[in-house]
Amino acid sequence: MHIDAPFELVLFGGLGDLAQRKLLPALYLLHRDGRLPAGRIYSTTRREISPEAFTDRVRTALRQYVAAEFLEESSWQSFSERLHCLTVDLSDDTQYELLASGLMAGDINRIFYLATGSDLYTNIARGLHNSGLILSQSKIVLEKPIGHDFASAQAINNAVAEYFSESQIYRIDHYLGKETVQNLMVLRFANSLFESQWNQKYIDHIQITISESLGVEKRAGFYDQVGAMRDMFQNHLLQLLCITAMEPPARLEPDSVRDEKVKVLKALKSITADTVSENVVRGQYDAGVSEGKPVPRYRDEPGVQPKSTTETFIAVKVEIDNWRWAGVPFYLRTGKRLADRACEIVVHFKAIPHSIFPMQHKSTMANKLIFRLQPDEGIRLMLCEKRVGPGMNVRPMNLSLNPANLKQTRVPEAYERLLFDALSGNATLFLRDDELLEAWRWVDPILQCWNDSEQRPEPYTSGSWGPAAATLLLAKDGRLWDENS
Ligand code: BG6
Repeated sequence: MHIDAPFELVLFGGLGDLAQRKLLPALYLLHRDGRLPAGRIYSTTRREISPEAFTDRVRTALRQYVAAEFLEESSWQSFSERLHCLTVDLSDDTQYELLASGLMAGDINRIFYLATGSDLYTNIARGLHNSGLILSQSKIVLEKPIGHDFASAQAINNAVAEYFSESQIYRIDHYLGKETVQNLMVLRFANSLFESQWNQKYIDHIQITISESLGVEKRAGFYDQVGAMRDMFQNHLLQLLCITAMEPPARLEPDSVRDEKVKVLKALKSITADTVSENVVRGQYDAGVSEGKPVPRYRDEPGVQPKSTTETFIAVKVEIDNWRWAGVPFYLRTGKRLADRACEIVVHFKAIPHSIFPMQHKSTMANKLIFRLQPDEGIRLMLCEKRVGPGMNVRPMNLSLNPANLKQTRVPEAYERLLFDALSGNATLFLRDDELLEAWRWVDPILQCWNDSEQRPEPYTSGSWGPAAATLLLAKDGRLWDENS
């Protein structure tokens, strides 16, 4: 599809948490910046809602999730004219005719965005087919988590493939739309300097952290069924790992990039019942203090089962069995109600073999390359320098590698970038069917071990950095998490 062609975007789950927090704000910002081609946006809802109440709900969401400086009245007015609401029960096959009658007739470019639970994806794809809504130029965007294990993800892949070709399917992982992730690719593949160091000869280990200070919020109904492994690890963390570890793709085009990511997933060392306890830590938050306020334990959150064993934290030591990465552990962790909201990829280079300077801690002075995805984007290289003055004292210094205009430019939200890519038919930052399955294939045995075990996740205090066992995971390898990098 050419980006200037008018489109119809149908958001299934169109007033859900994701739509309100991320999708509608991203669409608004694209519209405001003149980057959204002419077209209409439809939100489907299960319960009937008047057009006025619907517009009010969207406006309230934008006020909450878009910075006030970007919310001009004129942009909002023209954006609101593009919004439409359709009441549909997506589990009822007979209602798709109703949906079709609410859309424009004819040869239109339609994008169906599935932001519902993935248990509805098969129904929706079939319903769209039966009501004749799928044309050769149509696209379907699937939100994560797609399925809850390998078998269910495969079933969804197969069902959707009955009605859409693979090139029409966009499996989204919004972490790939974050500015720093794309900058990581540029830094790696546009500079010979880093790529030559990017292997087991020079890198000691890599840490990837996505920490959130928020708890489960109002999403307990979803989250308690899913947990951190399926919500964050199987997708966001493994995708960040793939981008960090993949070989240089031959071209910046969908299949080249995806081929390389799949190779990484296939090279991940399996974690089995015998190795799970030494490589994986799962936790669940207890009461504590978060952002200065007392907060309840996970099990006391509204909507959470009182005896829930759902993990809200996971840390894993991952190894990649290939020439580039053999012997270089990747430590990945994510959790809710942690001390801070941050997302970082920290590449720890090996310490120098011998120091001629009076440096007491060679390993803590080793070079680090830090990719910060949020809250403030940026890239820093930690080097050593001489302390000014007498003697030859060495101290760490940070070299900022941020683009010069980072502060002056509004950095687009990940969903802006990805919605734009989906609209314009660029699938490079979306997952292919086999990639999704390889990620589940690796994760499944861990989920199975948890399922078979009586052990509940280790509790951790809200506002801390997770369970003690996560600290131990690195400590037993003589390493520390980067908590304040
Ligand atoms: C989503 C998860 O994919 O990512 C949420 O479902 C999580 O649980 C969110 O809060 C975090 O995204 P971001 O971009 O705010 O870090």
